[in-house]
Amino acid sequence: MSRSLTIRRPDDWHVHFRDGAMMQAVVPFTAAQFARAIAMPNLVPPVTTAAEAVAYRDRILSAVPAGVKFEPLMVAYLTDGIDPAELRKGFESRAWVAAKLYPAKATTNSAHGVTDIKKIMPALAEMAKIGMPLLIHGEVTDQDVDIFDREAVFLSEILAPLVEALPDLKIVLEHATTEEAVNFVRSRPKNMGCTITAHHLAFNRNAIFQGGIRPHFYCLPVAKREKHRLALRDAATSGDPRFFLGTDSAPHLAKAKENACGCAGLFTAPAAVEAYVQVFAEEGKLDNFEAFASLNGPNFYGLPLNEERITLRPGSRFVAATIPAADQHLVPYLAGEDVRWEIV
Ligand code: DOR
Ligand code: ZN
Repeated sequence: MSRSLTIRRPDDWHVHFRDGAMMQAVVPFTAAQFARAIAMPNLVPPVTTAAEAVAYRDRILSAVPAGVKFEPLMVAYLTDGIDPAELRKGFESRAWVAAKLYPAKATTNSAHGVTDIKKIMPALAEMAKIGMPLLIHGEVTDQDVDIFDREAVFLSEILAPLVEALPDLKIVLEHATTEEAVNFVRSRPKNMGCTITAHHLAFNRNAIFQGGIRPHFYCLPVAKREKHRLALRDAATSGDPRFFLGTDSAPHLAKAKENACGCAGLFTAPAAVEAYVQVFAEEGKLDNFEAFASLNGPNFYGLPLNEERITLRPGSRFVAATIPAADQHLVPYLAGEDVRWEIV
């Protein structure tokens, strides 16, 4: 494994920066690796107007270290009462590039999310008309549905009828975790994209319970069984233009994760590109890494490719055991481990 790899600078099509001191701590990690990133809008309160998106973008930019070139791409948070005209206004003025559907109470800061997809059909119809992508957290929230089945049930009960009703709507199924999701995306020849996280490619649900309960492996959608991880690896490394990089890096303070009711989310930004390229190397698919990391995303969103290049080479880089944030600390993904690739 001595090969080095030069690719266009990657983008992260799904990341959580939070706000305030946490944002100041985490933005530099993403900006160090990626040219652009889709900044998720699940703040408290959520980003629901174009003006709020512009203000949030400015706050993120204030956390980018001097001399680093980085562009945050903003997203509207869909609520039951979202105004289709506001979505259009923000899209046309480039305040945001997409809108995110969080089913209400599906995950972190989703209390203002959508309680019933019927309530936002006028907004989604408007988005289809103007070519504004819909980004989806694809899990049903019915507590009677087993947590490991919530993505698959969402696909059949919500997403399948939605793509029939609005075939022109561009959709990204975010952080896919199942074979069913991969098959669903592959069955749609048009208007369908899908992000896959590095961590869902790297471990299955056993990691959450390895020798005891391990909160730093808990995220939503929760990791599934091994056959699903293998399906995700096959999709991500295939070169299929529908699949692209989205870390879902989601920082929570260590004390909020190491808790009787720990928060969902892995802070993967510090070694994100290294974690992904490792998977492509293991699969013997390094030739497809640039498509997944740097081409498929911008092509889906209709944005220009990055002109800058980065070189990755086999090596060794230590990931810190903890990272200071907001007067406390975060435990990153791969904390205290050596990753086997480095960015030159
Ligand atoms: O694990 C997760 N964390 N999944 C999500 O959908 C949200 C995210 C967060 O914001 O913490
Ligand atoms: Zn997310």
